[in-house]
Amino acid sequence: MKDELLQELERTRQRTRALITSLPEAMLDVPYHPGVNPPLWEMGHSAFFYEVFVFNLLDGIASFNPAMDDLWDSFHIEHRDRWSRNLFPGREETLAYFDTVYDRVAERILSQSLDDRTLYLNRYAIFHQNMHIESMIWCRQTVGYTAPPDAKSIRRAPGEPVTGDASSRPDAG
Ligand SMILES: [Fe+2]
Repeated sequence: MKDELLQELERTRQRTRALITSLPEAMLDVPYHPGVNPPLWEMGHSAFFYEVFVFNLLDGIASFNPAMDDLWDSFHIEHRDRWSRNLFPGREETLAYFDTVYDRVAERILSQSLDDRTLYLNRYAIFHQNMHIESMIWCRQTVGYTAPPDAKSIRRAPGEPVTGDASSRPDAG
């Protein structure tokens, strides 16, 4: 079970990193849009989620950088203020913060017992991260950037024929 959890954690780490590192820093300053978040804020916010729901809730450990807590916490930072770049660290610092938190989560999984509560909260933070991966992808679509590096397929236009298992079956209708 630990191996599966660590694999899932690493997969979310790499997918999130790729969404950031595949863009030059200037392109991370996306124009304001009410339906998206700035990519770097999403990265910091999703790492902060592990701090709250793994380290704080399970171990009573304070955040890695308590001065940043309110900025990464979606209940505290107004949506519009997430575009205030002077409030937040830049790309390299945010990546370093993100990796630090992920390394600590991986170490915790390896070194401590994995009871039901621990497994639940780790998965909760990973699933939350996956939701933000989706959110970062729709941000790229919204501002007209290229698809992320691990995009496996291109959505077909409406009405365009689709070939596959279903259409090759004689009874497919
Ligand atoms: Fe969130």
